[in-house]
Amino acid sequence: MSEPLIRHYGPRAYADHPPFSYPDYRSTVKRSPTHDLVEIVQTLSETTGPGQAWAEISEEDSDLTTNTGTGSPAIGERIIVTGRVLDENGQGLPGTVLEIWQANASGRYAHWRETEFPAPLDPNFVGVGQCLTDSDGGYRFTTIKPGPYPWGNHPNAWRPSHIHFSILGPSLGARLVTQMYFPGDPLIPLDPIFNSAPPHAGGRMIATYDHEVTEENWALGYRWDIVLRGELATPTHGGAD
Ligand SMILES: [Fe+2]
Repeated sequence: MSEPLIRHYGPRAYADHPPFSYPDYRSTVKRSPTHDLVEIVQTLSETTGPGQAWAEISEEDSDLTTNTGTGSPAIGERIIVTGRVLDENGQGLPGTVLEIWQANASGRYAHWRETEFPAPLDPNFVGVGQCLTDSDGGYRFTTIKPGPYPWGNHPNAWRPSHIHFSILGPSLGARLVTQMYFPGDPLIPLDPIFNSAPPHAGGRMIATYDHEVTEENWALGYRWDIVLRGELATPTHGGAD
């Protein structure tokens, strides 16, 4: 059993995150708090718990093109998504659990509540994966580039291609739920979820195409670093959309 990793976090940088209520993103209005927030002093529990949760993660979990176990690869544009998870001082965070979920190449989620978008499911793609950061805070996924999909927020509303990320470091103070976008996507400026992030921070959610990550005759590569706290923090993006 290793020693708990104790870190002291600065105050949350609210100016770098979306407001709790953002009327253009309709569902935020009902789910946002209507009273002032109560700041809770961080104690040892927030800076050390719940501890690393890596026992259940295997190497196969990080390849969404094959992790269905059907023996057939998923359909779509195979991509590699890699980067580092960093704390507010730019230090890589080892032992961080990353969980991702996403639509398939057609923009369809393999989820029972998804019934209205007439796009095909892929029996060889469930759209969920997980991995653990290495000693330098690095992570790497192989997946399919997700398609855009309509979401009913407003007339002719389409989400840009995106991958949902949940990042759980060794403590509750290192938890982030957010989304990664792809460079050059024309739907990004039209997306109220993306636009709910402050303009100076929104670009932190867009990955970079990286030819060094791209593998010949195999997959295009994207790089995306995630900063959990501090003035360069990646904006939080919750919700189910
Ligand atoms: Fe989504």
